[in-house]
Amino acid sequence: TDQKLIRNFAIIAHIDHGKSTLADRIIQLCEGVSEREMREQFLDNMDLERERGITIKAQTVRLNYRAPDGTEYTLNLIDTPGHVDFSYEVSRSLKACEGCLLLVDASQGVEAQTLANVYLALDHDLEIIPVLNKVDLPAAEPERVMEEIENVIGLDATDALMISAKTGQGVGDVLEAIVKRVPAPKGDPKAPLQALLVDSWYDQYLGVVTLTRVFDGTLKPGTRARMLGTRALHDVSEVGTFNPRRTKAKQLGPGELGYLIAGIKDIDETQVGDTITDEANPCAKPLEGYKPSVPVVFCGLFPADAGDYEDLRDALGKLRLNDSSFQFEPESSPALGFGFRCGFLGLLHLEIIQERLEREYDLDLITTAPSVVYRVMQRNGEVLELHNPTDLPDPVHIEAIEEPWIKATVMVPDQFLGNVLKLCEERRGRQVDLTYAGDRAMVVYNLPLNEVVYDFYDRLKSVTSGYASFDYHMEGYHEGDLVKLDILVNGEKVDAMALIVHRSQAEPRGRSVCQRLKDLIPRQLFKVAVQAAIGGKVVARETVPAMRKDVTAKCYGGDITRKRKLLEKQKAGKKKMRQFGKVEIPQSAFLAALKME
Ligand code: GTP
Repeated sequence: TDQKLIRNFAIIAHIDHGKSTLADRIIQLCEGVSEREMREQFLDNMDLERERGITIKAQTVRLNYRAPDGTEYTLNLIDTPGHVDFSYEVSRSLKACEGCLLLVDASQGVEAQTLANVYLALDHDLEIIPVLNKVDLPAAEPERVMEEIENVIGLDATDALMISAKTGQGVGDVLEAIVKRVPAPKGDPKAPLQALLVDSWYDQYLGVVTLTRVFDGTLKPGTRARMLGTRALHDVSEVGTFNPRRTKAKQLGPGELGYLIAGIKDIDETQVGDTITDEANPCAKPLEGYKPSVPVVFCGLFPADAGDYEDLRDALGKLRLNDSSFQFEPESSPALGFGFRCGFLGLLHLEIIQERLEREYDLDLITTAPSVVYRVMQRNGEVLELHNPTDLPDPVHIEAIEEPWIKATVMVPDQFLGNVLKLCEERRGRQVDLTYAGDRAMVVYNLPLNEVVYDFYDRLKSVTSGYASFDYHMEGYHEGDLVKLDILVNGEKVDAMALIVHRSQAEPRGRSVCQRLKDLIPRQLFKVAVQAAIGGKVVARETVPAMRKDVTAKCYGGDITRKRKLLEKQKAGKKKMRQFGKVEIPQSAFLAALKME
């Protein structure tokens, strides 16, 4: 392919501003594929993804575009994941581009994620083309939104395009703008191979498929591909592109995007952001910015039915084939039995995996409270990376505990600002910045990640009637006055419920957990004490009253099938219960009890 005629671009947008719709339109215009065919083939190709409207795995298509002057261009549209948990993946996708479309819903305006993605695009020196979408809506206010783009982002919006991805209005102009304004890729075909690993996934038949952007040199079958970060070495057996179907090619040259297959079995060897070179003629140095993916939120996943342990392990293994940012290892808990400690990029990532396990693999799970990774400075000089609150050493051995903080940006209509500030303050936040754009405020807070992992998103949505948008990135570790809060039921510690909390919040947190548990634990034949304690000191206590005797007398007599049904129902119910000493706790109690009001 003639390098001068290649254009590599991505679409950056806040969730629901119409990224998928525009991508579909662009593909249709270039390829003449029907909408249904599209949907079945690519972009958002997981059911769950479509339902949630979130793009998880980056996907890329190569398109042929014939400009009005007759020139044939090759357009590579690189899809970017649309959620805050995946900002590193977004950054890698953008690195593979020379330009991007900044898509903003003309009836909404600039949101927190729009902004976060623009910053990433600026970091990579991309040509940014502002595009206002949904101008067909009566509520569209293109002038106001253009002003926002200029004031909030600081980008010249005079050449912004006005389109409707839905009706197709203006989409042709978008293609023209891409070929005119986005620069062609640079790169030397004779130089040593230097290529970026943009994404990878596991294919049942092909093994690991790697999506790659070539910067210098050429990649072809037979190349001994060396990953500079993971040090993996494999012989390339096939290269090609998705146009949109998988199409083999002789080689991939500078500026090209495509896939490589090299008989790789383990997705760990193909880390997003790594540099691929030719072992026979390696490049001098790796591309900048490679970070191995590090999970930041951990939780325990246990089968509700102990007999499902093997099934859970298989299912986790299968999910992991496609997602190297997700980690798991066996864990056993006196309370919950055998399960797995799992690590995720963020809360949403956790929810996605949890939901897929329940839905696609039909597993009933008990999920313990999500926890961040603490750094425990011990008196003997050792630093412990703590993934599980139950593993916290005895306080006498601890010098200090550090916790991760994030820098969060919230954009919100003025009338809800007070609620947002209150929420951030309650979560130990420290305000960094507060600015206005029209009647919308942009607040920047430093917050302990620990305070965000429980229900911050939910709370933020509810106190702003869904109008706030949120984005964050890791800021660093800071020492905190943190303690372990144990939960005891009938005098027995429920290890899976232990929490690490800030001392100032131990008592209210303990009280709220106890109150909830009290309502969630079914009455037993005896009184049950529910307590929260720091060390040996009880900070909160509730009592589940004993059950009255006569409720058991219900189902004597009656016909046999009805009785059997009842028994079966009870049995199914049993599965979802966990025994703690003499007390059974329903699995739903675990997360519910840990939610904050
Ligand atoms: P995520 O995949 O969640 O990031 O969303 P997205 O940005 O890909 O948005 P998507 O394309 O799914 O569009 C969101 C909603 O807006 C859908 O209901 C679309 O039908 C609608 N939509 C997209 N473009 C337009 C448009 O130009 N006009 C109107 N009226 N609706 C649009």
